[in-house]
Amino acid sequence: MLIAQLTDTHIRKPGSLAYDVVDTARYLEAAVAHLLTLAPRPDAVIVTGDITDFDGAEEYARFIELLRPLPMPVFPVPGNHDSSAGVRAAFPDVARRMGDGKAHYVVDDFPLRLVLLDSTVPGRPHGEIGAEGLAFLDRVLSQAPDRPALVALHHPPFLTGIRHMDAQNLSDAPALEDVIRRHPQVTAVVCGHVHRAVSTTFAGVAATIAPAPAHSVSLSLDPAALPTFHMEPPSLALHVLEEGRLVTHRSFIGSFPGPYPFFDASGRMIGAPGER
Ligand SMILES: [Fe+2]
Repeated sequence: MLIAQLTDTHIRKPGSLAYDVVDTARYLEAAVAHLLTLAPRPDAVIVTGDITDFDGAEEYARFIELLRPLPMPVFPVPGNHDSSAGVRAAFPDVARRMGDGKAHYVVDDFPLRLVLLDSTVPGRPHGEIGAEGLAFLDRVLSQAPDRPALVALHHPPFLTGIRHMDAQNLSDAPALEDVIRRHPQVTAVVCGHVHRAVSTTFAGVAATIAPAPAHSVSLSLDPAALPTFHMEPPSLALHVLEEGRLVTHRSFIGSFPGPYPFFDASGRMIGAPGER
C-alpha cells in the first residue's frame, strides 16, 4: 500500500501566476510526470487542500485536467483557498462518498483506511473540524477498530514554530487529539497548509506536513518573520504501509544526477580502501 500526497497546488486560471511569481500549473504538471515514473506506482493520491488558489470552477477544472494522466484514484479535501462546495462540485465521484454538510469522507477500498476531514472555515484562513466532523471521525473509526487508518486534513493540529502559519492552524486540535487517542488503529495524521515537510507526533502517533510541489513557505523561526515564500526544490510525500506502520518519504520532483552504484560487478564496494 503506497499513497502519494500532493498538497497546496494552488492552481489558478490559465495565464495567471500565484503571487505574480509562481506558475503553479507547470509545477503540478511536473509532479504528475514524477508520479508516473514511480515503480511501484502509488495505489492512490490524496490531495490535502489548497487545490486551487481562489476556489474558481476554472481552477478546479484545470487541476483535474492536469491530473488526468494519473491512472490511480485521487482523493481531495479542501483547504482554506478552496471550499467544501467547490470540492463537491469539482469531484462528483468523490462527493458521493460524503454526507451532508462539510466534505468529510472515508475510503475503505485499501488495506489502509483513509479518513479525510474537511477543516475549512468559510472565509477564514484557520481550520476547524467542528463537532459534526469530530463525531464523524469517532464513528468511522469505531466501525473498524482493527484496520489501520490514516487521518488526512489540510490544517495541521500542532505548532510548527513558523508563527504566521501557526496563527492559522487547526483551532480544535485538543478535541481531535481526544478522538484519535480513543482509536489506537490510527497510524498517522497527515496535513498540508505550511508548504514544507514537517514531522512531529500528535495524539501519540506520527504527524506530518507534506511539502509542496511548487512554492514553500519560508523557513524562519523568528516570531516576527513576515509571511514570505521561497522556490525550494519541489517535492511530495510518499506514505508506505509497512507492517501496520506508516512510513513517510519525501520524494523530490525533478531530475538529479544518479543512480550511481555502491558496488562493482564483483560485489565489492566501489572505492573501498585496498581495492586499488
Ligand atoms: Fe496553501
